[in-house]
Amino acid sequence: MVWQFYNPSFAAAYAPELSAAVMLAGPWSGHTRFAYDLVRFMQPANIAELGTFMGTSYFSMCQAVRDGGLSTRCYAVDTWQGDPHQGYYQDDVFQRVATVNQREYAPFSTLIRNTFDAALPSFPDGSISLLHIDGYHTYEASLHDYTAWYPKVAHNGIVLFHDIAVREKDFGVYRLWAELSSAYPHLTFLHSNGLGVLFPKGCPQQFQPILANKEAFIRQYQY
Ligand SMILES: C[S@@+](CC[C@H](N)C(=O)[O-])C[C@H]1O[C@@H](n2cnc3c(N)ncnc32)[C@H](O)[C@@H]1O
Repeated sequence: MVWQFYNPSFAAAYAPELSAAVMLAGPWSGHTRFAYDLVRFMQPANIAELGTFMGTSYFSMCQAVRDGGLSTRCYAVDTWQGDPHQGYYQDDVFQRVATVNQREYAPFSTLIRNTFDAALPSFPDGSISLLHIDGYHTYEASLHDYTAWYPKVAHNGIVLFHDIAVREKDFGVYRLWAELSSAYPHLTFLHSNGLGVLFPKGCPQQFQPILANKEAFIRQYQY
């Protein structure tokens, strides 16, 4: 399987329930094409996301599952209440995300409205193919989320970290990323607040050519 650079149309970006500004020009928007291509290429058995808010990241991965006709199951975990970095928001955000999820992605996508810790027992150890961590962004919180969810990651699984390039206030994912990326195969995107792609439990053969040529690969997504 060769990596393909798609030019997808994201249903969520045009959903009247969601904010086009968040979907098309928010902190995660610069990674939606990569996330989409990654899911099409990897064809993961399942995807779990910790921190979904309006769904920019989550729905970009769901779109890939739908367009590719994949058998992937997707799970989004969030209290949909906010946190000190995101800010706290009202219940209508969850209602709007749930409406889009039901209309566009219901056959394979489940929203889990709970804390990350409370959702842990829903996932067997070694079961998650693609995990995206994008909750509260202090060093301590991101380390906690990674440590708690690491047992859930499958052999050859991938963990995505957003905000690895943010150094303002008490953001600390960049510190965690420095530690993890020195220990495991990885890709580092610095645009759009930064996205880390980590292979902490083995790296599938299909990714070896990409990792061997990572600078040129990363440049394809920096815009
Ligand atoms: C930065 S936002 C996620 C952004 C999203 N990935 C996107 O693409 O726009 C972080 C989200 O994590 C949620 N969150 C933070 N800590 C959490 C926790 N411990 N349990 C559940 N949700 C949490 C917040 O409610 C917030 O919606």
